[in-house]
Amino acid sequence: MKITDFYNYRKPGPKISMVTAYDYTLAALAAESAVDCVLVGDSAAMVMHGHPSTLAATPELMALHTAAVARAVTGKLVIGDMPFLSMRKGLGPAMETVELLARAGAQAVKIEGLDGHGDLISHIVQSDLPVMGHLGLTPQSLNRLGGYRTQGRDQASAEKLVEQALELERRGCFALVLECVPAALAGRVTNLLKIPVIGIGAGPQTDGQVLVMQDLLGLYPAAPSFVKKYLDGRRLLTEALNNFDGEVKNSVFPAVKRTKDENSERDQSLADAPYGAAVHR
Ligand code: KIV
Repeated sequence: MKITDFYNYRKPGPKISMVTAYDYTLAALAAESAVDCVLVGDSAAMVMHGHPSTLAATPELMALHTAAVARAVTGKLVIGDMPFLSMRKGLGPAMETVELLARAGAQAVKIEGLDGHGDLISHIVQSDLPVMGHLGLTPQSLNRLGGYRTQGRDQASAEKLVEQALELERRGCFALVLECVPAALAGRVTNLLKIPVIGIGAGPQTDGQVLVMQDLLGLYPAAPSFVKKYLDGRRLLTEALNNFDGEVKNSVFPAVKRTKDENSERDQSLADAPYGAAVHR
């Protein structure tokens, strides 16, 4: 899916699937899959670096992951996440982070929340870099929220969320992520907005769904409870590692004959391989 497909989205349209990716290898899988678009989320701080929250993500870290993903993904929208506090240091420094992500290959940025950075969102949109909004449970607000809790449960906070969603649309966001809000509220926002609403832990009524890739593949040990695992990744990969270990310890791998065959094939393929492939394979 390209940015123009988002602009041309008419409801009810086909559901949109988005996954996160942070590295070249898994981003290449996302690129080859039917998934519509790729988010380089600040969840990288947790999933890739083992931090307890997304607050540890920095502009440099996000740019590094964005560049790796952008090298793998062509023909699909790559969205880079603006990390904690990067929107809050004034327009100039905020635009430096935007530039860092754009030059790393992000074709759009995602920004959590609205209060205090509405003008920045308008400025980025008017600078011709599309912006995806993000409301509901905004993990960068962890210290204020006091935990990862469903948002918009009472009337006042639900109304505020609806107002903010409309405001983000008015400011030119091309899509909105709604995280961990009641399904009825997500449905209401989805019906009110013209732009596509992509939910996570927000029920089935949104225009699309996003999941952290390592969660859906069953790789991250602490996935949220709403996640559906499409693969028992930790078990399968541990099994593969244990098979490798067993074969090394029992002198099964490498087999003598196999090594010889592989080497002759390898000599041939290396002759044609680019420098990177020759080094790594
Ligand atoms: O950082 C992230 O991965 C996200 C998605 C879960 C929406 O913001």
